[in-house]
Amino acid sequence: MRILAIESSCDETAAAVVENGRTVLSSVIASQIEEHQLYGGVVPEIASRRHSEAIAGVTRQALEQAGVTLNQLDGIAVTYAPGLIGALLVGVNFAKGLALSAGLPLIPVHHLRAHIASNYIVSPELTPAFLCLVVSGGHTHLIDVKDYTDLRVIGQTRDDAAGEAFDKAARAMGMPYPGGVHLDQIAETGNEDTFTLPHPSVQGAPYDFSFSGLKTAVINLIHNARQKDEQLPIADLSASFRKAVVDCLLRNVIRAMEDTGHETLVIAGGVSANSLLRRRLQQECRKRNWKLHMPSFDLCGDNAAMVGAQGYYEFLVEKTAGMDLNACAAMPIDDHF
Ligand code: KG4
Ligand code: ZN
Repeated sequence: MRILAIESSCDETAAAVVENGRTVLSSVIASQIEEHQLYGGVVPEIASRRHSEAIAGVTRQALEQAGVTLNQLDGIAVTYAPGLIGALLVGVNFAKGLALSAGLPLIPVHHLRAHIASNYIVSPELTPAFLCLVVSGGHTHLIDVKDYTDLRVIGQTRDDAAGEAFDKAARAMGMPYPGGVHLDQIAETGNEDTFTLPHPSVQGAPYDFSFSGLKTAVINLIHNARQKDEQLPIADLSASFRKAVVDCLLRNVIRAMEDTGHETLVIAGGVSANSLLRRRLQQECRKRNWKLHMPSFDLCGDNAAMVGAQGYYEFLVEKTAGMDLNACAAMPIDDHF
């Protein structure tokens, strides 16, 4: 079964053709990051306009690279939630138009389910059940993946997402948006024991996360130094901050793995590209004999291949939509369409 997938939930316009949920025939991504960098973050209005301009070309390219035409497809999958509403609407309406004109089923896909599904592409042997840590710019979730379309959130952030904390700390250190990857690179050259930073936890909710206190601690250090005209060692501060974030993620992941009895751990989302997170997870899983699956770097961030992968499994359980499909800015992963 061949699915054309479309993704436009944030600042990447993407289209892909995916076969049977696991084989990527093409994947095209048009990033808007350079334009949003001017403003230090994604400007929703600009994002929607750029999606409108790019979506037809990106889709045509994806079809050409896969060597297929619309009438050789079996369905159109599209990210419909969660994300920036104006951005999502561009993808949803474009997908509706294509589905209507080609007489194909329309498959709505939850963005976080799609991030998880990026692992089905890189790990053909991976099948549920497993525990998944989804760490992106907007979300930090611990998810009990019982089946491809049966997912339960067992923990989540109470405030900032991990990626958001990385980006805000990086911005305070003068790095361009999105700063997570820059902070990660600079941290590789720093000493992670230089600064002692808080490791916030949420009382009574052992799998929940909180990153705002940690982020504020770093921002305060930077402001105080600036007021005294002192220079902080940015590499050391980056390394200490990155270690604190990763410590908090690992603490809850290990606890949840032990409590749920899962033996397979999966990570997904933009922050799953973080070098320290990947290294530490590899060490911890090896020690405990847990299987670990991580997306390849090209599948960590937003892309449409992952939407095509999840779309296939949604289609198998007949989760298709009519022409009245709407986009949703917020939507729980377990309460999907
Ligand atoms: O999944 P994604 O592309 O978009 C959302 O759905 O949010 O995630 C983007 C997030 C950004 O916050 C970005 O800074 C972060 O992932 N990120 C990283 C790294 N690469 C991307 N954070 C830490 N270390 C990295 N290497
Ligand atoms: Zn994402």
